Amino acid sequence: MPAPTPAPASPDPAVSARLPVFPWDRLEPFKATAAAHPDGIVDLSVGTPVDPVPELVRQALTDAADSPGYPTVWGTPALRDAIVDWCGRRLGARGLTHSHVLPVVGSKELVAWLPTQLGLGAGDRVAYPRLAYPTYEVGARLTGAEPVPYESVVELDPRGLRLLWLNSPSNPTGRVQGKEALREAVAWAREHGVLVFSDECYLELGWEADPVSVLHPEVCGGSYEGIVAVHSLSKRSNLAGYRAAFAVGDSAVLGELLQIRKHGGMMSPAPVQAAAVAALGDDTHVARQRERYAARRAALRGALEANGFRIEHSEASLYLWATRDEPCWDTVRELSERGILVAPGEFYGAAGERFVRIAFTATDERVRDAVRRLTA
Ligand SMILES: Cc1ncc(COP(=O)(O)O)c(C=O)c1O
Repeated sequence: MPAPTPAPASPDPAVSARLPVFPWDRLEPFKATAAAHPDGIVDLSVGTPVDPVPELVRQALTDAADSPGYPTVWGTPALRDAIVDWCGRRLGARGLTHSHVLPVVGSKELVAWLPTQLGLGAGDRVAYPRLAYPTYEVGARLTGAEPVPYESVVELDPRGLRLLWLNSPSNPTGRVQGKEALREAVAWAREHGVLVFSDECYLELGWEADPVSVLHPEVCGGSYEGIVAVHSLSKRSNLAGYRAAFAVGDSAVLGELLQIRKHGGMMSPAPVQAAAVAALGDDTHVARQRERYAARRAALRGALEANGFRIEHSEASLYLWATRDEPCWDTVRELSERGILVAPGEFYGAAGERFVRIAFTATDERVRDAVRRLTA
């Protein structure tokens, strides 16, 4: 009798079972309600850029369209130069060389896979702010490490803690940590041998505060030991669709990640690398984009406050962190009935259960409509 054919191999569902329910799926019913509004939906839920990709960036992309060969994981020397220059000019980081730089394919991808690439697993702990971008937790869970939300870095139990995420300006609260707070967090981590990754993707979007990087000499003391900053061109340059980001800091850590990523083939496409060089070399489009966001932010903020909302923090980033002192899903429902979709604060941690996150990444026309609906 022939041996029974074995069942085809299938993915282990235990991996996805480790992850939370994909939060945005839970917003779908409210999206449908908002979409039914006669004047259409105003979607302020996901912070996705809507304004054009700057012309000089598009030009650089198309100029590099004829790129038949494999790009390198470490990026072109021109890209590494552009990153080093930008970090010096914009972050005040001194003494950086190419060995301190690693281009990555989107910062979300880095956040999600960093704990795996660092070799973390069962028994290791990964800490992140208690109100935070959900991918920090996902990254810990994907590799079987323990996710640890924190209120205050210095109150963390350092045992087993291998990776500490900082995020200033914060998603979702827009809160900015001053130099003193960052210095204290870096000092604590160094004292306990914990690696710091600082997600600074909103650094160029300060409104009532001037965000500072962990790479600033007054924070890191001029040494990059044990610290890495993560930056993205998604928000600053409207390049979320390009997947262009980079990490800068401790050369030993980034050198190790480079070796792993070479084997893993995590290369930015060559035209995207060329586009990133153009984007990093130009501050004019950033200033222009900031003006657009500042106007939308002011209009939405005024309309929300006139409507009984209280805005907390929100001194930087692309969001207003707003509450009407009621459960977040009540606010989401009520706004969806006016055709406005926002994100429930609970997506970012239990501490957000009475807040909503309102992105100002919608066109001027959509923002005007939202303001009209809120003040009607
Ligand atoms: C705090 C934070 N980090 C990282 C990202 C990911 O950005 P990207 O993958 O586009 O670089 C986001 C996107 O919203 C974010 O809010």
